[in-house]
Amino acid sequence: MRMSFNTAAGLITMASLGSVGFASFLMGQASSGGSDQAILFYAPKGSDVWYGSMDKQPMSLKAFEDEAANSTTGMSAAAGLWSGLPIVAIYVPHEENKNKPLAEDEPRFQLMDGYTSSGAYVGSGFEIEEKEEYSSLSIHDNMIIIFSRCPHLCCIPGWQLVSNDFTADNWLPGGTDSGGNKLFCICHSSRYDPTVIEKNTSRNRSNGQDFDFIGIKKTGGPAPYGMPLIPFVVNGDSIEALPDFKDWYTFCG
Ligand code: FES
Repeated sequence: MRMSFNTAAGLITMASLGSVGFASFLMGQASSGGSDQAILFYAPKGSDVWYGSMDKQPMSLKAFEDEAANSTTGMSAAAGLWSGLPIVAIYVPHEENKNKPLAEDEPRFQLMDGYTSSGAYVGSGFEIEEKEEYSSLSIHDNMIIIFSRCPHLCCIPGWQLVSNDFTADNWLPGGTDSGGNKLFCICHSSRYDPTVIEKNTSRNRSNGQDFDFIGIKKTGGPAPYGMPLIPFVVNGDSIEALPDFKDWYTFCG
């Protein structure tokens, strides 16, 4: 069962996450285990998420694989913290489905073209396979990690924390706004398809500079574009992030 925390008291913010702030970003964190780059589960207050008993513990790939077995689509996801920054880790049975015909509830990662909100072509998700500079983002271990701050007004989108058509456990191919398993921002209802990887462009709010990034696709709502990927490795069974693209995590401050 999913619980809503769509209340003023329940709305998670950077403050309630205990963020260490961007200035100290990637200086390491005091975790309850694992390395400084380990990603920790973060169970939002008032929720009854599947990872509640693992709150603040390092994320393990096996936990996602086990939870995916309870899903119609074979997907699972969880909120987390990496060096004080909010992330969502999403498990997709990509290897199992990538050679099957595209079909409902057979999810896999899709590499697609990205466009600005005014319709200008930016680039392709295929660049993670074609360009050396993005090689750390190539798909592995059936998982991606998202820097989870909404490019609209910087709320923190979540996974199945509210119950609606966008968050239901189903999947459709093509990166449309139809189907479920979207990351959903409760503030103004922006939606993101975590199975679509595209290239898009964003702005560093500190210095006003535009920059391109590889991330997941916005499918609906007021957000101007999607949210960037964070490269990671699986060390033993522990999921550890890599600080390759620090500029990409600057659009909210
Ligand atoms: S802050 Fe996410 S939709 Fe407005």
